[in-house]
Amino acid sequence: SKRTITVIPGDGIGPSIIDAAIKILDKAGCDFEYEFADAGLTALEKQGELLPQRTLDMIEKNRITLKGPLTTPVGEGFTSINVSLRKKFSLYANIRPVLSFKGTQARYENIDIITVRENTEGMYSGLGQTVSEDGSTAEATSIITRQGAEQITTFAYELARKENRKKVTIVHKANIMKSTSGLFLKVAREVSLRYPDIITEEMIVDATCMKLVMNPENFDVMVTTNLFGDILSDLCAGLVGGLGMAPGANIGKDAAIFEAVHGSAPDIAGKNLANPTSVILASIQMLEYLGMSDKAELIRSAVTAVIAEGDRTTRDLGGTHGTTDFTQAVIDRL
Ligand code: NAI
Ligand code: MG
Repeated sequence: SKRTITVIPGDGIGPSIIDAAIKILDKAGCDFEYEFADAGLTALEKQGELLPQRTLDMIEKNRITLKGPLTTPVGEGFTSINVSLRKKFSLYANIRPVLSFKGTQARYENIDIITVRENTEGMYSGLGQTVSEDGSTAEATSIITRQGAEQITTFAYELARKENRKKVTIVHKANIMKSTSGLFLKVAREVSLRYPDIITEEMIVDATCMKLVMNPENFDVMVTTNLFGDILSDLCAGLVGGLGMAPGANIGKDAAIFEAVHGSAPDIAGKNLANPTSVILASIQMLEYLGMSDKAELIRSAVTAVIAEGDRTTRDLGGTHGTTDFTQAVIDRL
């Protein structure tokens, strides 16, 4: 029987780039069944809540979700839907690969970096967020557990091994954040001892930013805590041509959600300007996760060729075309 995928089109540019990804998956002969669900602003408007129970049930049942970006309304006591989803399904690993494509406006050529970001703890656990009554003092709790640190660093080393990579860089700030980042580094060091075949490097997060901009070719796999991973992965997206080129997989034991790294891009929504490559690359991550490497390669080479040719690409890549033209170019290739 066909595999069923939960699809959340999302907000802003979400529906248009998700539509592009599905057309391409279908053209490549992936033969999935899709079940559509709402979340975010779209769900709030249609169903009165940001994360309806029906959507949660569907994510749990199908286990695999392809998701567009979601707009979290600012203020009004709303907690981030993405953070909620990651916590609810214990999606502890956020895998964000960036790869150079010929034909983009990127300043570098030989980038191939995977950021492995811890996805449920640290500064994004949402715990202890208080502001004093007079508004003078704000507080938040950051929690790092041995179990969480061990799980994510093991994931990074296993990924490095599986993909024949040479080096894992542990990114931290243990010199200042001695308790939290300190524990993360200590546990990561212990895990690294089990992988003598892979080079381990330790780097402080601010220096990492500088080195990523100076010599990004030197990086391979990075593993880090939640906040640092969020920031570093956007930096990495900038190295390869912007957020339109950056996918991410949120992986847990019982569910996985594949999405773009970027948000709903309200500034370009509804204008047929979005680059769908981010979500197309996320669907490639999904295919690889499902063991469908041949389909993944097929789509990857079509996207690579269309971007390299450059005459049907979107504006962020230096082209003059829209989301639908670019998508059609990939479909024509397939
Ligand atoms: P954003 O990532 O939506 O946009 C940042 C900039 O990148 C904008 O100039 C946008 O036009 C551009 N951009 C993003 N994706 C692009 C694409 N595919 N093609 C071409 N250009 C692209 O970040 P912003 O504006 O800070 O956030 C907007 C909303 O998205 C917020 O409500 C935020 O909460 C939400 N968000 C959701 C995420 C998710 O669902 N995973 C992740 C990040 C933000
Ligand atoms: Mg982010």
